[in-house]
Amino acid sequence: MTVFLNGKLLPAEQASVSVLDRGFIFGDGIYELVPVYSRVPFRLDEHLARLERSLGEAKIRNPYSRAQWRAHVYQLIDAQSFDDQGVYFQVTRGVAKRDHAFPKNVEPTVFMMSNPLVNPPREQVERGGAAVSAPDNRWQRCDIKSISLIGNVLLRQLSAEAEAAETILFRHGNLTEASASNVFIVKRGVIHSPPKSNLILPGITYDVIAELARADSLPLEFRSITEDEVRAADEVWVTSSSKEVFPIVSLDGKPVGDGRPGPVFRRMYRLYQEFKQKVMRSGKREAISA
Ligand SMILES: Cc1ncc(COP(=O)(O)O)c(C=O)c1O
Repeated sequence: MTVFLNGKLLPAEQASVSVLDRGFIFGDGIYELVPVYSRVPFRLDEHLARLERSLGEAKIRNPYSRAQWRAHVYQLIDAQSFDDQGVYFQVTRGVAKRDHAFPKNVEPTVFMMSNPLVNPPREQVERGGAAVSAPDNRWQRCDIKSISLIGNVLLRQLSAEAEAAETILFRHGNLTEASASNVFIVKRGVIHSPPKSNLILPGITYDVIAELARADSLPLEFRSITEDEVRAADEVWVTSSSKEVFPIVSLDGKPVGDGRPGPVFRRMYRLYQEFKQKVMRSGKREAISA
């Protein structure tokens, strides 16, 4: 596997980072994951804008211009032998003697790798998946795509142990998101999702869903959603760059709606697949809009 480390492409076995890297010592860094279909990155500029925002909020110097980031992503995509990819990249504050306060004059560490993209197979989408719920006990800056993911890891493990697809999170009685995805519900034909705030990651897929709903005149509201509303929803979906839009058909062992992927989900899934096809056919390596 060819990876990117601090400006160079090299075999993964030759890529190494100091044990004093603040990513390793403190989880002091941020990351992105961009889905790539047929070698065309999906919503690259939106991912790069979120990366720039995360770096700004974490006060980590951005080592590259937008154009340089794009070029590095394309180079890495071209260095792989497979077409559908998940390009992961992270930036840490750099290598320094261990001290919580920011070190002076350090270079950020930039690492990128690309793995084959695995979206949920169609049979799984047609069946839907289970979720469990848990209190959202993460920090108050879930809007930063931080590599410090122990909170999310512990929460995801709860669903993994229950052989469920996701852990849906509630904070003070309200829905936030899931351990590695955003959450939408449908009630009486209206799609709802929590508004963007410091308590959720501003998902790139969340924005795509909103654009597709608007373009297809599907009613959509961003507002606070109570735990009771989620449990009484007709449909529950999770969204992320790797899961795309995926139906949750049971929550904590109880069926969601009639226990099958609902009609609004099926419509949104079709819209999403059509949109993806359009992006792939365009073959454009530029900003894409619905
Ligand atoms: C906590 C969390 N929320 C939401 C998302 C969805 O974000 P995106 O649609 O940009 O992949 C992710 C994706 O990794 C996530 O980890």
